[in-house]
Amino acid sequence: MKIYAHRGASGYAPENTITAISQALFEYPCDGIEIDVHLSKDKKLVVIHDETVDRTTNGQGQIKDLTYEELRKLSAWAKFGEKFKDEYIPTLDEVLSLVKKSGKEINIEIKAGSDKYPGIEEAVIEKIHEYRLSSKTLLSSFDHKAMLLSKEIDPKLRTGLLNRKKIENPTEYLRKHKADAMNYSYLALTPSQTKEIKNAGYEVNTYTPNTVFTLGYCIMCGADTLITNYPDKAYKIANK
Ligand code: G3P
Ligand code: MG
Repeated sequence: MKIYAHRGASGYAPENTITAISQALFEYPCDGIEIDVHLSKDKKLVVIHDETVDRTTNGQGQIKDLTYEELRKLSAWAKFGEKFKDEYIPTLDEVLSLVKKSGKEINIEIKAGSDKYPGIEEAVIEKIHEYRLSSKTLLSSFDHKAMLLSKEIDPKLRTGLLNRKKIENPTEYLRKHKADAMNYSYLALTPSQTKEIKNAGYEVNTYTPNTVFTLGYCIMCGADTLITNYPDKAYKIANK
C-alpha cells in the first residue's frame, strides 16, 4: 500500500505550495504527492486546486484569465497564517523538478480537460516526458474524457478515474475508458467492490482519508494508495 500526500503535506502547510510539496517529498514518510493543475491565460501549467485564485491566495479571478506573471505575484498562503505569506502558485515544472530530485512519485490531477483548457492533456504529458517521470506518474481527473484522451496520447502512462460516488460495473467502466485505476472518494469505497476491481487487475486509490477512523477504513477495504493530508499519520496507522 502506498501513501501520497494530498496537495503536498497540506495538513501542515498551505496546499499545493512549494513548502507543502517539499515537506512531503523530503521530510514525511510517504511514497509521493498528489497535486492539481490548471492552465493560465498564457498557457503555463500551474499547480493550484480551484479554478479561481480566490480561496487560496490574496488575489481574485479565474486562472484562465490571468497570466503566469500575474499569478506569480499572489501570496498562496491559503489563510494558513502570516508565516506562509511568501508562498506562491508553483508551475508544474518546479514541482516535477522537485519530484525528480526526491525519487518519489506523483499523481497529477488535471482539474479540467480540453473542454475548458484546450490542449492541457498534451501539455501535461509533454512535461512528464521532459522530466522522464512516466514510470513515477499517475494522471487522474474527474473529467474521464480527459483521461481517455491522455491514454490515446501516451498509452503507457497510467491513468486514474476520480469518482465521488460508487460506479456500477466499475471494471467495465475502467475498460471503456482504458484506465488503470479507480480513484474513489473514501465515501464511495467498499471492501467488496475494491476486491472486485483489484481482482480484475486494476488499482483502487482513495482520497482523502485524514482521520484515524477513515484511514483505518480505507486500509481495511484494501486500497492501493491512501491520498491524505497527513502522510505521517497514515504511515503510523498503516505500519501498526
Ligand atoms: O486526487 C484526489 C483528490 O485530490 C480529488 O479531489 O477536490 O481534493 O482535488 P480534490
Ligand atoms: Mg486533487
